[in-house]
Amino acid sequence: MRIIALFIVLSATTILATPSQAQDAAAGEKVFTKCKVCHVADQDQNRIGPSLNGVIGRVAGTHPNFTYSAAMIAAGKSGVKWDEPTLATYLHAPQAMVKGTKMTFAGLKDDKDIANVIAYLKQFSK
Ligand code: HEC
Repeated sequence: MRIIALFIVLSATTILATPSQAQDAAAGEKVFTKCKVCHVADQDQNRIGPSLNGVIGRVAGTHPNFTYSAAMIAAGKSGVKWDEPTLATYLHAPQAMVKGTKMTFAGLKDDKDIANVIAYLKQFSK
């Protein structure tokens, strides 16, 4: 009995400890169809939204030749840099994290969709 219980504990810990392995870039590409109206990721091209090519590691509001909202520029100046945790918070509720952002997108409710879309974006970042 004890061995079985230990096994269950260990499996649960493994799942919780390695969230990045659960990310799925292919599934993320499907999630990205929601972003595609406004964003390009596979090329460095601004549309309604800034290009998301190389977004991981970028200071918020700093892609050249894109006119950001004052709110996004201020977020960058206050130290927001796009990495997994900041992207997850932003994509969950853009207006809540960057009050006044001109990204008119309600947010992704499913944490798995968020993890997957970040995995997708990672492919286009160094
Ligand atoms: C309706 C258009 C629209 C949709 C849909 C949209 N965005 Fe945006 N996004 C924008 C705009 C506009 C900005 C610039 C925001 C600002 O300046 O406040 C932006 C900014 C961003 C930024 C910050 C980039 C930077 O250079 O600082 C990220 C990251 C982002 N969007 C990711 C996404 C993802 C991922 C999705 C899909 C889940 C998505 N967006 C859906 C319009 C959109």
